[in-house]
Amino acid sequence: MGSSGRIRTYVQGFDEKLSGGIPPGHIVLLAGEAGTMKSTVAWNVLHSGAVKEGRTGAYITLEQSRESFAAHLRTMGMDPKAVEDKVSIVDLAMIRKNLEGMAESTWLEIFKMYAHNLKKSLNYELLVIDSLTVLLTLARFDRPREQMFQLFEWLRDLKATTLLVSEMRTKNDEFGAHGEEFLADGIIHVKMERVDDANIQRRIRCVKMRGSAHSPNYYTLMFENGFLQATRVIAE
Ligand SMILES: Nc1ncnc2c1ncn2[C@@H]1O[C@H](COP(=O)(O)OP(=O)(O)O)[C@@H](O)[C@H]1O
Ligand SMILES: [Mg+2]
Repeated sequence: MGSSGRIRTYVQGFDEKLSGGIPPGHIVLLAGEAGTMKSTVAWNVLHSGAVKEGRTGAYITLEQSRESFAAHLRTMGMDPKAVEDKVSIVDLAMIRKNLEGMAESTWLEIFKMYAHNLKKSLNYELLVIDSLTVLLTLARFDRPREQMFQLFEWLRDLKATTLLVSEMRTKNDEFGAHGEEFLADGIIHVKMERVDDANIQRRIRCVKMRGSAHSPNYYTLMFENGFLQATRVIAE
């Protein structure tokens, strides 16, 4: 596959490392600890894709409220209002709150209904689910390996390029708990790295991307001058 038609992350310096971006239709895990900018990176893909290429997208948030997320994005210069005709933020956190105490088994059905209806109304090319971790907690799979496989099959049928945000625990280096690291077409890992006694930097790396000759290396992830950037790690 050539680089044309690929979904650029618009993290400056990173798309070249992915041979142009994410192949369309891929389901990609975006995994990392809290505060590693997973949500910001995921939004950046939708926001810049809409501004620069007119791509349509949907962002389903399951934990952070739309207001909190939008406020964060505004401080980063990526106001959702600027792309509201192309990208919708769906706040399932709010629905969770209002439907507290509802049978857990129906959560996955509600989620699927939203994702499906949005696909029909918006026909989004890109879908972000923030996060898969919360979705799995709510869904309470009793046969996780099999149900994860079925969930991925269902996602593939949506015919969108999908980013699944995955919350990793500190000191746990697993990208998934139920086989999602094998089911996913790609994995992008973001992490905090201690560079000396006092300083911590963020890092980004493509662990896996089917159909791509990608760099497996870590790059420094920074937000500077209003842009997310991945630069070579300079030996400290
Ligand atoms: N204006 C800003 N410039 C640079 N970094 C910021 C700015 N605003 C917030 N951050 C950083 O972004 C982090 C949150 O990013 P977020 O995408 O929500 O992370 P995650 O989804 O991985 O938990 C904050 O912990 C903060 O360090
Ligand atoms: Mg987040």
